[in-house]
Amino acid sequence: MNNSDMPIRVLFVCLGNICRSPLAEGAFRTHLKNRNILSRFVVDSAGTGGYHAGEKPDPRSIKIARDMGVDISQQRSRKLELDDYQHFDYIIAMDRTNLRDINARKPTQATSQVTLMLDELGVKGQDVPDPYYGGPSGFEQVWKLVDRATHSLLDRILTASTDSVTRLD
Ligand code: 4NP
Repeated sequence: MNNSDMPIRVLFVCLGNICRSPLAEGAFRTHLKNRNILSRFVVDSAGTGGYHAGEKPDPRSIKIARDMGVDISQQRSRKLELDDYQHFDYIIAMDRTNLRDINARKPTQATSQVTLMLDELGVKGQDVPDPYYGGPSGFEQVWKLVDRATHSLLDRILTASTDSVTRLD
């Protein structure tokens, strides 16, 4: 088996894993399904805090995703674990606080690449705003951002995997 047969593993991380990262996971899965490449990937999400572990996504997240034709209701919140740093090729932080917390816990031998979600849109250092304390429009804004950013992320990952296969040949 060479590298091209291995699934590409992508983890989206926010604070609570009930608002932003479930939407990013849902949007990314949808892009994969639309391109018929879901089986080549392992996709998950997690939170740097474990306050909502075991819970469904926030009802406002479930609603905006459903409005966009995406069912995220089967997702369950979980806390980021040390094993995630070995398991996932890409760990995508929703905001700069998440990025700092993820990097602070990162084991020295960790192989995953940790980056910020909106860096995929070409503007560095921007946060996906936390909609938890706001109204439904915040969730709509988050969906729009993560839908675009996960689309760009997928292009970047596919380019990187094509490059690595070409190097192996
Ligand atoms: P998320 O939003 O990090 O996008 O899932 C939050 C969810 C819950 C809390 C904060 C942010 N909370 O404090 O419980």
